[in-house]
Amino acid sequence: MSFFGLKNLGSKIALTALGFSLIPLLALGITMYSMFASAYHDKVRSNLVTLAENKRQSIDLFLREQVSQLRTIAHTHSIEDLSSPEVLDKILTTIQMGSRTLIDLGLIGEDGRHISYAGPYNLAEINYKNEDWFHRVMVRKIYVSDVFEGFRGFPHLIIAVKVQVKGKAWILRATIDSDIFDSLVRWLQLGDRGDAYLVNRAGELQTRPRFGNKSKEIYKHFLGTPFVGARVSEFGDQKHKIFVEGIWLEQKEWLLVIEDDVQSELRPLFETQAATWALGGGGAALIIIGTLLISRMIVVQQERNEREQARLNEELIQSSKMAALGKLAAGVAHEVNNPLAVIREKAGWMRDLLEEEDVQGSENFKEFEDAVDKIEQHVERAGAVVHRMLGFARRMEPICNDVYLNDVLKHTTVFLDNEIKFRGIELIWHLGTDVPAIQSDASQLQQVFLNLLDNAIDAINRNGIITISTSFDRGSDSVCVSIRDNGPGIDKEVQQRLFDPFFTTKKVGEGTGLGLSISYSIVNKLGGTIRFESEVGHGTEFIIIFPVRHYDRNE
Ligand SMILES: Nc1ncnc2c1ncn2[C@@H]1O[C@H](COP(=O)(O)OP(=O)(O)OP(=O)(O)O)[C@@H](O)[C@H]1O
Ligand SMILES: [Mg+2]
Repeated sequence: MSFFGLKNLGSKIALTALGFSLIPLLALGITMYSMFASAYHDKVRSNLVTLAENKRQSIDLFLREQVSQLRTIAHTHSIEDLSSPEVLDKILTTIQMGSRTLIDLGLIGEDGRHISYAGPYNLAEINYKNEDWFHRVMVRKIYVSDVFEGFRGFPHLIIAVKVQVKGKAWILRATIDSDIFDSLVRWLQLGDRGDAYLVNRAGELQTRPRFGNKSKEIYKHFLGTPFVGARVSEFGDQKHKIFVEGIWLEQKEWLLVIEDDVQSELRPLFETQAATWALGGGGAALIIIGTLLISRMIVVQQERNEREQARLNEELIQSSKMAALGKLAAGVAHEVNNPLAVIREKAGWMRDLLEEEDVQGSENFKEFEDAVDKIEQHVERAGAVVHRMLGFARRMEPICNDVYLNDVLKHTTVFLDNEIKFRGIELIWHLGTDVPAIQSDASQLQQVFLNLLDNAIDAINRNGIITISTSFDRGSDSVCVSIRDNGPGIDKEVQQRLFDPFFTTKKVGEGTGLGLSISYSIVNKLGGTIRFESEVGHGTEFIIIFPVRHYDRNE
């Protein structure tokens, strides 16, 4: 598969794996979260309703208690007693010993004037005949006022009960401490921004809210017809949202308004949301990283497999070429050798004839002599090729001994010393000192090195550098020989055919094209590998690797 094909495969694996893992994760996360959010919302709302109802009950209870306390006083004392300011004062003091909710007490006659008064204000002379509340008590018998300023000049609320004795009516009236009432209402505060207060049907505040004056907008929608139970609504923009609960009191037509900070009420939900995001995000990141790593690993492995497969294929092709050549060489060499011997012999006989005097005098003697020279020369050339082919065909089984590659290389270059010097080539040695002996055939190795050095010299032609290196790789327990030249390098097309038998770029008569194919076959036979790296204009390096522990391919 090509590089792009593999890349595509990697992307497909990654996308599929991500799709199959992230989509369910996302769906699960969103479903779970939205279910949890709506359940939590419902829970918070129902809590708020319960809270509002409890609060309403306690305010109702408070008012009921005050009224019933006043009623008890009215019914347990005679009008004569209540008409005495001293007795009234005593009663007030007794009540205030238990709780200071009531500020004053007053008995008012039918004419609207105070008969007696106990309390801190100077109200004894005041006539309530024209006051609205006075008439209401007369009609309804029990009365709880709105908060009003009245004759005292500051907000307060009063409760009053009508007492009827022998056809005559009186009103027993008390003032409730508005601070105590306010704090009773405000006692229910939720979060940092929570608030609670009472408003009447006209929307006027009846208790002091915790945070200044309130906009009617907050609770306006609760006014109108009273409803049963508590209602919860949300008010404000997304950033400053509050829950507003409204519930009508039973004792008085007042609406209890409770404001709750959404942020603090829903904090656990927001924390869960943050945790869900963090966990979900972390999980997704892990999945993405894991998937990318795995798909990368698969692609790398696939790449490695394909490279190995290609190498094996190449080796197989090369080996089959070698095998075919081996058979061909044996047949051809044998068939060509005999005629060559005959030609050589006949050429010798012709040369003998040419030495005779009468032939020397012939006018074509020079041409005969040249022809015989050429025949001998070409027979020599053909003989050399056949010799090489024969060597290839019946190459002997290697005789393996302990071989030190450094020594073999040194000995091999001795044969080439003159040529190297003559061509102005410099030999550079980088021999590893730790290169161990390998089990191999020294003379066959020498043939390989000779071929490679020959090629390097031919490639450089004049004035260049050949570097011979050896090294030992402990990890793979193998030794490596490198023969590098700074010749012209090999272009891509030639590279593909380099190890092919009879492939040469040299002029006819200068190369058989068998050097590298023979070397390849020898190295293979000795259990090693041979490869090359070459860059046009920079030179060529042949690298041979042998395992230290010898293995024979035929084993
Ligand atoms: N070091 C090298 N630098 C550049 N080209 C090289 C090198 N080694 C080999 N070649 C190329 O590979 C070809 C084949 O080499 P090989 O040794 O098989 O045959 P040859 O050298 O042409 O013939 P012979 O080995 O019989 O003299 C060469 O003709 C040459 O073109
Ligand atoms: Mg060669």
